[in-house]
Amino acid sequence: MKIEFAEYAIPKGGVVVAGVMEDKVLTPAATELDRRTGGAIARALKSGRFQGRASDRLDLVGPGDGAYERIVLMGLGKAKERDALKAQDLGGNIVAQLNAGGVAKATVLVDPMPEAPLPAAAAAARIAYGARLRAYRFDKYRTKEKEEQKPTLTELTIAVAGAKAAEDASRPLEQVADAVFFTRDLVSEPANIIYPETLADAARTLTEQGVEVEVLGVSEMKRLGMGALLGVGQGSAREPRLVVMQWQGAANRADAPLAFVGKGVTFDTGGISIKPAAGMEDMKWDMGGAGTVIGLMKALAGRKAKVNVVGVAGLVENMPSGTAQRPGDVVKSMSGQTIEVINTDAEGRLVLADALWYCQDRFKPKFMIDLATLTGAIIIALGHENAGLFANSDDLAERIAAAGRATGERCWRLPLAEPYDKALASDIADMKNVGDRAAGSITAAQFLQRFVNDVPWAHIDIAGMAWSKKDAPTVPKGATAFGVQLLNHLVQEYYEGK
Ligand code: BES
Ligand code: MN
Ligand code: ZN
Repeated sequence: MKIEFAEYAIPKGGVVVAGVMEDKVLTPAATELDRRTGGAIARALKSGRFQGRASDRLDLVGPGDGAYERIVLMGLGKAKERDALKAQDLGGNIVAQLNAGGVAKATVLVDPMPEAPLPAAAAAARIAYGARLRAYRFDKYRTKEKEEQKPTLTELTIAVAGAKAAEDASRPLEQVADAVFFTRDLVSEPANIIYPETLADAARTLTEQGVEVEVLGVSEMKRLGMGALLGVGQGSAREPRLVVMQWQGAANRADAPLAFVGKGVTFDTGGISIKPAAGMEDMKWDMGGAGTVIGLMKALAGRKAKVNVVGVAGLVENMPSGTAQRPGDVVKSMSGQTIEVINTDAEGRLVLADALWYCQDRFKPKFMIDLATLTGAIIIALGHENAGLFANSDDLAERIAAAGRATGERCWRLPLAEPYDKALASDIADMKNVGDRAAGSITAAQFLQRFVNDVPWAHIDIAGMAWSKKDAPTVPKGATAFGVQLLNHLVQEYYEGK
């Protein structure tokens, strides 16, 4: 879909999209269109439920004398509540509405709203961003889709006073959208296409944007003593990889970097502690944490963020086989701590144990944030509305939660505490890799914390967020790329140029 900005002017025909505020207060565009159609909008608003709430939409087909093919009215809600997130959602909803109506081209009229915290040009950029995010599709494997099954919208023009300013504001957002799509693509790909080696290859493409990418293979990881990560991968015909990405954007290259670490289990069968067949196909997206870290690096490099950042992704496939690790095996992590593997399906924490240790040991980062589709239990606790957030630093946790509210990628903090940690005591090794059933997401986080030293650290459990079974305004169902926007915002808001 092509998106363009144009200087504000109300077209004489075609398909136009105009806003109506709460309590049916027409925007200037809607007022003028009402006049040009002989009061068609006022008449339409008299009957029906449209109130101008943010979820309200109304299509007027061929109103008035028929000069306009279609006028689409979008509820804007309260003017003084128009912020970046609302504008984004509006853009996404416009795309859905136009596709539902079979529209190919349309012009969106963005009026200034004096009471709104967001000026019109900035709102226009956010509308474009939301539209772009919603128009994403992963359709490369559909060879027999009929024309009438495909989305119709090909061209969206956003008309606003100050089109140039909107375009400027839009540029970095386009970079973020591209990064979100990169992550969505990686997470959507099946596990016969994306496995550790090919996912590492995908990360390597970031070198084109100035990211330094290293890929560690099995022999290097053996030398480093990454027995926890390697144990997970040993049952698979696909060898593990560790991807290390560096973006040096700060004025001073010696500045300690921010660090992001991702769980990249390209397929999680559970291993010898095998998962039930029903729904196992979902486990292709068990590399969502790694996918997000790779996409985040792309976003930061794409918009040339003034900050030093490292991304580390631990990539393995968790398979049962004659070479797979067994329940009861004891492995030695890079930290030197030994782990009794009670359940081979609690593999993500084993991967992260070595990836986290490696990251803090080598880079001495300012902070370290890991993302992982770590536990089914987090879905029981928080559903698909919030990711689970754990942290050893209140400041870092609060900043992540705030970034979540600003981007709509929300995180809810859960506790870490000594009594939970006790559940990990092993009779034979320094720890076991699972607690009992109680507080499964917290004991998983406690496990990770054993591989984190003094550095401020947060763990985000995205098991309920990496994949969506229903459409949301800016996230079509499927891979969400949860965390790319959240962490891009966190970096931009609190750490860039500082
Ligand atoms: N990848 C899964 C977690 C998961 C489950 C993500 C469902 C998304 C949807 C993880 O590796 C796992 O299997 N966790 C186990 C841990 C248990 C064995 C302690 C779980 O949650 O059941
Ligand atoms: Mn598992
Ligand atoms: Zn897993």
